[in-house]
Amino acid sequence: MKVCAQITGWGKCLPQRILTNDDLAKRVDTSDEWIRTRTGIAARRIADARESTATLAIRAARNALNVAGLSPQKLDLIIVATATPEYIFPPTACLVQDALGASRAGAFDLSAGCSGFVYALSLAAHCIESGACHNVLVIGAETLSRIVNWEDRSTCVLFGDGAGAVVLQAAEGDGGVLSSVLGADGSGADLLIIPAGGSRRPPSPATVANGEHYIHMDGREVYRFATRVMARASREAVQAAGLTMEQVALLIPHQANIRIIDSAAHELSLPKDRVYVNLQRYGNTSAASIPIALCEAIEEGRLQPGDHVVLVGFGAGLTWGAAVVRWGRPTPIRPVPLWRRTASWLGYRLASVRSLGMRLLRKLDALLGAPWRNGKR
Ligand code: COA
Repeated sequence: MKVCAQITGWGKCLPQRILTNDDLAKRVDTSDEWIRTRTGIAARRIADARESTATLAIRAARNALNVAGLSPQKLDLIIVATATPEYIFPPTACLVQDALGASRAGAFDLSAGCSGFVYALSLAAHCIESGACHNVLVIGAETLSRIVNWEDRSTCVLFGDGAGAVVLQAAEGDGGVLSSVLGADGSGADLLIIPAGGSRRPPSPATVANGEHYIHMDGREVYRFATRVMARASREAVQAAGLTMEQVALLIPHQANIRIIDSAAHELSLPKDRVYVNLQRYGNTSAASIPIALCEAIEEGRLQPGDHVVLVGFGAGLTWGAAVVRWGRPTPIRPVPLWRRTASWLGYRLASVRSLGMRLLRKLDALLGAPWRNGKR
């Protein structure tokens, strides 16, 4: 029997703080009218001082695991797609692994700009189909507000913070992730870039003074690239799944700009009601935008078992990717029962005790030496 990778759980986490276009107009020379007509964005969410990419990722992951009814200990792999990791290293995925108590899981971050979630989903599906993994957690999480230059009106109006997650599980049959196509064109690397902070230009007073740790973007070129690849990648993925566009119930595109989305939908001859859009509320949340949109589409009852959904993204790299999923779970799902929520809450408390215990043990080791551990003292 063929093994497929089914999406069995999904969750999102968005910061409470809302920053509207009018709020932004008080900071930089812009207007609600300009932002809405050029991008379709009306507001975005901004992480507060206690929130970070990892905290948003952890909350989205817990919600996804709750929906799947899966214990974190059963996870084989955790992938966090992000352009704004908690640190350069360790990977944000390891912080998520620790907070979840996913003691059997490997964990790593994936950097493919705003296409990161589609890349991670594709990789996770292949891991499951090959038999290497049974249960994989895929997260897209970002705090772009931390790398945006709030004095640069050409970029600061576009981005927002948030996280979305899905649980992929092995299942028998031919549903789940049916196909994926990934692409890259590094000749456009400079079009969307944070110039400093990596090995090429390590941080220095000069890089900070020049604003080189912020997002730098050639908006027009990125726009041209995006309108070229969105429809093409979607079409290729649909073809690879052995389907036609008529069989696609919903297109969930990366939520960067309504004009880019409309142009792709037009080229694919998809009517508006078969294209999901929520960028007016959240702006561009990079690798988090597709999983957040997927969660909201499910919450709104836009996906039914048997439906084919296309997820398509593009971003820094330049990168692009599209995946076709045959939806397998009935929606809307019943609320997670109280006992399960209580059990997972207890599990997560235990995970933090376990983490603390391991840190203490490591300190004891360092203090008393390895023989203490080996029972020689
Ligand atoms: N408010 C008011 N005016 C603004 C502005 C803002 N927030 N940002 C730029 N402008 C000005 C520019 O300075 C320019 O003025 P000028 O003609 O006097 O020089 C004018 O508006 C037009 O700028 P332009 O860059 O041509 O606008 P545009 O129609 O291309 O729209 C973007 C700009 C950024 C919205 C658009 O290029 C875009 O969406 N690109 C893709 C970006 C993207 O999706 N990035 C993420 C990829 S994952």
